[in-house]
Amino acid sequence: MKKAIILSAGEGTRMKSHNSKVLHKLLNRSMIDYVLDACDFVDERIVVGGNNYDILKENLDKSIYIVKQNIGEDFPYGTGYAVKLCLDRIGDDDKVMILTGDTPLIKKETLEKFLEFHENEQSVATVLTSEIDDPFGYGRIVKDENGNLLKIVEQKDCNEQELLIKEFNSGMMIVNGDVLKTSINKLDTNNSKGEMYLTDIFEIIRRENKTIKTFKHSDVTETHGINTKAQLYFCEEILKDRVNKKFMEDGVVISNASTVIIEPSVKIGRDTVIIGPCRIYGDTEIGSDCVIKGDCEISNCKIGDNVVIKSSYLENSTVGNGTDIGPFAHLRPNSNLKENVHIGNFVEVKNSTVGNGTKAGHLAYVGDSDLGSGINIGCGVIFVNYDGKNKFRSVVEDNVFVGSNSNIIAPVTLKKDSFIACGTTITDDVEEGSLSIGRNRQENKIGWVYKKQQK
Ligand code: UD1
Ligand code: CA
Repeated sequence: MKKAIILSAGEGTRMKSHNSKVLHKLLNRSMIDYVLDACDFVDERIVVGGNNYDILKENLDKSIYIVKQNIGEDFPYGTGYAVKLCLDRIGDDDKVMILTGDTPLIKKETLEKFLEFHENEQSVATVLTSEIDDPFGYGRIVKDENGNLLKIVEQKDCNEQELLIKEFNSGMMIVNGDVLKTSINKLDTNNSKGEMYLTDIFEIIRRENKTIKTFKHSDVTETHGINTKAQLYFCEEILKDRVNKKFMEDGVVISNASTVIIEPSVKIGRDTVIIGPCRIYGDTEIGSDCVIKGDCEISNCKIGDNVVIKSSYLENSTVGNGTDIGPFAHLRPNSNLKENVHIGNFVEVKNSTVGNGTKAGHLAYVGDSDLGSGINIGCGVIFVNYDGKNKFRSVVEDNVFVGSNSNIIAPVTLKKDSFIACGTTITDDVEEGSLSIGRNRQENKIGWVYKKQQK
């Protein structure tokens, strides 16, 4: 069987964070989730967690087996020890791919090729390497004059000669189950950090004259490890560019792309134009020929075709074809806008449906209500849905005109074709085709100001 072990128990000290390193996000998705996706073709994925065990258990897919590594002075530490804790799940004939939760840029196709190479070469242990001018912080790949791997030496343990080596260990390797078991059990902690280094297995295996190989990958962007927040930023920039270009290849226009952050799970139709800054997250689907511009944040929304969204925030909502939103509108969860709706400046919608062609152009709150089609919601209208203890719903039927600055105190129904005069506070249902006016009549006191001044 093919197995993957994803090492994620390290303290991540260099991140200077009270949060787990591997749960830091790139494009709104956890670092470790990218690694888990890249190796999802294996039969079993095993994650080693440490102090982050509980939070990993909460966050990771249930199909993933999580091993707990105890962290503290009384316990051994190091990548080798972390793998050792997984050995009882490994069979002798297994091919074991060992990855680290902090290298999220690796692509699935690369890992597939890597495994194919390992099998074709009949290697018992293969390490994925790459080359950069200054591989500071990485383990160096030491080879003999024939190019055979001798050992991997960690940065801190390198002599002057070894520091000059440009080929480095990506932290990703494939080892046959039986060889992994025997070599891991021979590891010691004789190094500058006093840790059990996984990388030392290569020297052990080589001494037994078994075939070990390196798989040198030319795309160095895939092997970047994240140990600091600056490296997190660096990798997110690479990923953002990669993801945005994929959308462009599929027919999306992205302008000001360096400010456009799209989670890879998002789907976007052809000829939709996105002009940054903009963030689009989660389970969002956007149709074709839409325009999204200004400072927008869209999470978990289903958006139709020909929709225009300007500088607005949308969460867990649906938007029908031809609808336009913003600038400065807010769709809070469970807003369901049908087709050709207009939601304008400073309008907030929450847990409501809004029917075809209904318009709320300015400064309004539509909460917990069901609005039909062809309705006009005037400026400053408030659906008063909360009495301090409970929330209530209101209904507005088709073609109702709600005049500006009206309060609709739930629960009420405004029947179809009714007309609400501006400034009205509605507390009772309004009958079909009726006018409702609920405000004090204006009184003008002629010359009142001048009389007052003469006294
Ligand atoms: C490691 C490699 C180095 C390689 C680099 C690539 C070792 C000894 N060094 O160094 O050769 O160039 O990755 O990015 O393997 N972890 C555990 N348990 C532990 C210690 C670490 O699960 O006891 C996990 C960490 O959470 C992390 C991964 O192993 O995801 C790698 O550990 P890290 O401390 O980041 O190793 P590097 O110093 O980057
Ligand atoms: Ca690392």
